[in-house]
Amino acid sequence: KTIYLKDYAPAPYKASHINLVFELFEDKTIVRSEVLYIKNPDGNSSTLILNGQDQTILSVEIDGVAFTGYMLADNQITINEAGEKFTLTITSEIHPETNTALEGLYKSQGTYCTQCEAEGFRRITYFQDRPDVLSIFSVRIEADKSKYPVLLSNGNLVESGELANGRHFTAWNDPFPKPCYLFALVAGDLVRIEDTFKTMSGRNVDLHIYVRSGDEGQCDHAMQSLKKSMQWDEEKYGREYELDLFNIVAVSDFNMGAMENTSLNIFNTKLVLAHQETATDTDFMSVEGVIAHEYFHNWTGNRVTCRDWFQLSLKEGLTVFRDHEFSADMNSRSVQRIDDVDHLRRFQFSEDASPLAHAVQPDNFIEISNFYTMTVYEKGSELIRMQQTLLGEDTYRKATDLYFDRYDGHAVTCDDFVQCMADASGRDMSQFFLWYKQAGTPSLIASSQYDEEQKQFTLTLKQSQADTPGQTNKKPLLIPVAVGLLNEQGIETHPTQVLEMTEREQSFTFDNVKTRPVPSILRGFSAPVKLTTDLSDDNLRLLQLSDTDGFNKWEAGQTIALRTIERVMADSEVDISQFIDDIGIMIQQGLNNKGDKALLARALSLPAIAVIAQTQDVIDPAAIDSARTHILKAIKRTHKDALLRLYKDNLSMGEFSISPEAMGRRSLKNTVLELLTVTNGSGCAALAKAHYDHADNMTDRVAALACLSDSTQPEREEVFTDFYHRFKDYQLVVDKWFSLQAIANRDEIFDDFAKLRNHAEFNIKNPNRVRSLYSAFAINNPVKFHDPSGQGYAILRDAIIELNAINPQIAARQVTPFREWKRYTPELQAKMKDALQAIMDSGNLSSDVFEVVSKSLNG
Ligand code: ARG
Ligand code: ZN
Repeated sequence: KTIYLKDYAPAPYKASHINLVFELFEDKTIVRSEVLYIKNPDGNSSTLILNGQDQTILSVEIDGVAFTGYMLADNQITINEAGEKFTLTITSEIHPETNTALEGLYKSQGTYCTQCEAEGFRRITYFQDRPDVLSIFSVRIEADKSKYPVLLSNGNLVESGELANGRHFTAWNDPFPKPCYLFALVAGDLVRIEDTFKTMSGRNVDLHIYVRSGDEGQCDHAMQSLKKSMQWDEEKYGREYELDLFNIVAVSDFNMGAMENTSLNIFNTKLVLAHQETATDTDFMSVEGVIAHEYFHNWTGNRVTCRDWFQLSLKEGLTVFRDHEFSADMNSRSVQRIDDVDHLRRFQFSEDASPLAHAVQPDNFIEISNFYTMTVYEKGSELIRMQQTLLGEDTYRKATDLYFDRYDGHAVTCDDFVQCMADASGRDMSQFFLWYKQAGTPSLIASSQYDEEQKQFTLTLKQSQADTPGQTNKKPLLIPVAVGLLNEQGIETHPTQVLEMTEREQSFTFDNVKTRPVPSILRGFSAPVKLTTDLSDDNLRLLQLSDTDGFNKWEAGQTIALRTIERVMADSEVDISQFIDDIGIMIQQGLNNKGDKALLARALSLPAIAVIAQTQDVIDPAAIDSARTHILKAIKRTHKDALLRLYKDNLSMGEFSISPEAMGRRSLKNTVLELLTVTNGSGCAALAKAHYDHADNMTDRVAALACLSDSTQPEREEVFTDFYHRFKDYQLVVDKWFSLQAIANRDEIFDDFAKLRNHAEFNIKNPNRVRSLYSAFAINNPVKFHDPSGQGYAILRDAIIELNAINPQIAARQVTPFREWKRYTPELQAKMKDALQAIMDSGNLSSDVFEVVSKSLNG
């Protein structure tokens, strides 16, 4: 069933208080909920509708008297003419112990936990499961004391004590009204790491991280990240934490990354645990970013929440923007921006180019879980960034102050947020709001004219927006285009200026331009568009060497690389010596210790196959890969000695650190290792094995394994076996072991895959493990996933059909690599379509899988 934004109506009843009692038993859980319902004066109905799913009703009472006058159908209780004010008490039985969907209350390795966003609360009790119903929650939890010594919920602990039969209880009260998607409960045998934070007004907040015994040594980074986040939010947004306690609990079975439940954040272990022996630099960065993300939700999401799920980006886009900016402040701003844009292009641009393209504020959906997307999150973040660019940082801050002031304690819309931007700046933001409404990646074409006589430079920009499912004839957007000018010597003559494009085609003139300039366009990636320019390769080389904008410096090099790859794809004999020589200059800079190592590592990396694919009319992954590999081999052949020197120069590191410098050095050394091992011969394997043997951290080990993955040399087996035995007790590292084999671009992959699938440690009920095998294969092994035989597609098809019955959310996610099927070569297209059709025909599809598969096929 499709739900539409235009059908929004306020909730008919308010539920200002909810009292919940949980009795946890091994074979069932009894939930009693007592809610005071009062007719909503803004509502237009006296029919109370309560959502509920997968539960057995034991009793229903109104004002203490048994009540049978309700209808139960389609996962809803309906009470007609329900009255002005009454207390409804419902007792029901649920089964967390057999809940494999991991929504609502479920068990993860012996620990009870919850995931209620978006619509999981209805699996716990019957309630108006919608974010605009805000209630004060009181929660009592009863369970066996020896098995579940820790019993947690949101807010403050108000009571705890012993019960008969070795049981005990805790009682919690959260004084701030919240929507039910922010409810959380945890019961388990966990250890706790403690710290405190003093807020800007001088209050002390207790910070607790709960993990399984044995994992407590891997929590320090998460704790430091939390404290940094709390301080950053005070400094940058003036936001203080209001409760006395902030809990984080890490669980091994989790559909997404983490969840911002008020004062009781629940995390995937992958985003809490980090130690040099077990986590890569990328893991350290994700932990920091996601800890910050969930903490920032306290204000952007919880205190100010969403009116309905079409407004998801209100909290997610804004919170992603906040966590990106936080990470930029904590680490390297240019590196952060490059990595964020690379991620956006890889995954969001491809979403926009697929039948599942949708607006940042969508206007319809079947299953909201399918809208936790790159578009709502990452493009949503770019929309906030553009508003900050247009308003300037100071006015943007005034606007967010106004937003918190106006809407604290309310459930609001994206329109309300943008209105605050308008009110604080005095600007009309109505054209800007089209960014929320129109799906698809706009394309922007830039051309330049120089008038020698007038000393004027004119930049002409043309924007266009392609049709997407359900949307045609789109209007022009307000696009902020940050531009600076360099002269032929590479000196910046005109610093960054933000051009505001509002028309389909528009020209901007710069005065006082003494000689023909080289424009640096869309600095810092000031808008999420596909830019095409008339810049020559020489212009780009000048930007690559001299631009003052770190992002565009990198971007210029990537554009040259993309052009080179396209030339090789058109003619494998084409002369690429200029490109290879330029790489030599960069290697030389590295040898002279010039410039930032992290940036050099990124400059020495060719765009990924997925990024190149976005520039192709018809995608042929094998052709992209062979052109790419041809260039990588030429780089190695030409610069082998210099690369080896650069590798050795950066090999010894001293004491382990995750400072940006140390991470930059590792990333440079490992990028060079990748270039040196691209030919997969015996020397490559020996070098990678030596790298592995010398490693004192997971980043270097993973780099060595990645370089050996495609190899058929004996070292491959030795190193993978050693790695497994060394780390078999660390689930998150075993995930890496699965992934690093799933990405092997070699003929053995299909046999290997079957072995991995049948490995004793593979468990299809664990989302991390599923992602480590299937997502790694389908996303990071594009050549073998798109093998002409169709074997790759069959692997994913069968997994989706199996997962559909176990965990619909995870099953639907796995459809992603199929959704762009129409963009591949005719042979691949036909096979991808067959796989989608087979899923469609497999019967009993969850609404999650049904929506993404049917839209992929017909959209
Ligand atoms: N609000 C969470 C976050 O972005 C995401 C949780 C969504 N979970 C889900 N199953 N749809 O931090
Ligand atoms: Zn979020």
